[in-house]
Amino acid sequence: MKKWLSIILMCMVWITSSIFASATNQEEGLVIAFNGEQTEYYSVFCDDTHYVPMRKVFEKMGASVFYRSRDGQIMALSRDGDIIRHIVGENHIVFNGEQKTVEMPSFSKDYETYIPIEMVSETLYPDDISYNEQHLNIQKYMFNSDYHKVIQDVLDLCSLSNFYPERFQRYIDFHAKMPVYSVQEAIARVNLGLDYPFYENVATIEHPDELLVLVNKYHQLPEGYAAYNLVNMSREYTVNDGKQYLLLAGAYEHYVQMAEAAEKEGLSMRVVSAYRTEDYQRFLYNNKLRTNGKIYADNYSARPGFSEHQTGLAVDINSTRVAFEYSAEFKWLQEHAHEYGYIMRYPKGKEWITGYAYEPWHYRFVGIEAAKIIYEEGITYEEFYAKYVSVNEFR
Ligand code: DAL
Ligand code: ZN
Repeated sequence: MKKWLSIILMCMVWITSSIFASATNQEEGLVIAFNGEQTEYYSVFCDDTHYVPMRKVFEKMGASVFYRSRDGQIMALSRDGDIIRHIVGENHIVFNGEQKTVEMPSFSKDYETYIPIEMVSETLYPDDISYNEQHLNIQKYMFNSDYHKVIQDVLDLCSLSNFYPERFQRYIDFHAKMPVYSVQEAIARVNLGLDYPFYENVATIEHPDELLVLVNKYHQLPEGYAAYNLVNMSREYTVNDGKQYLLLAGAYEHYVQMAEAAEKEGLSMRVVSAYRTEDYQRFLYNNKLRTNGKIYADNYSARPGFSEHQTGLAVDINSTRVAFEYSAEFKWLQEHAHEYGYIMRYPKGKEWITGYAYEPWHYRFVGIEAAKIIYEEGITYEEFYAKYVSVNEFR
């Protein structure tokens, strides 16, 4: 560690002086060449090691390079489909998941990360690095198979804001497997998780108390999760069958406003199901499973831990029959639910995205701002989440 520190300090002194005397000091490094062709870049030579600018060198090799400021992580996606990760200041590089350690760490200078040339050779399996008096030559064979064409098609869209570099392999696999979809469609589908069957590749939700929480067949509430700040719904808004109906305070407040507005038009909106505990959801799911089998159960009922009802943000209104769609209340909800922050969560024709059969009775509170966008764009909550909530940390 001490050795590194002194080396880094030495490099910094060298770098500072180089800012003032770049022409002479650049001679200390070598001109970087790529497959024998000279580039406009130089290496920095320090303590017997050549350092090269990572982004520039990888881009020369046809890769796309991304940066995440949270932890200083650089990610390069190569034209061979390789994924290279490096954290600025560390002495390892991760090549397709395998960590390779070299002697010296990288450093940054003028917003550019310089990595020891050994890190480059660790990512160039059959190829090599050679030196002569003026040049540091990076030799890399450029393959051109059909598979490389798929990779290139994917990389061509890497500057789209919905391109997540960490999903690179999934985009490639999806596009290779389903060429009927454009790369853009492949990216959108992978971003929704649809390259995996439902209930596979499930992530545990990190912030289950957030208003915009996404709960679906790929996002599970933490085991034993129970919502808090639940309020007891007044019986005039429920079927009034003697049972307790609970909702999160904010969702309830907006529900009341919505039900009142509907009532002014002679309609009646009564909740038949609101908050459910994980155990109650298990009971409901198992019941459906026993009576109607797995396919039916999975179409209409969430498995325990996977239901929005467990967040206290979802309500079933008036009935749980598809015929509800012919009621005046449904028609009113179609036009006005979003004004109160509610969305119909499982629309007709979007079953392949939501994972559930059409449920005209199930409404989810997402807040007025989000509901308005979902209404105006005619999208599912999954699509809204991918577009507006999910954060792409790599730039
Ligand atoms: N019926 C919905 C999908 C649920 O069980 O949460
Ligand atoms: Zn429901």
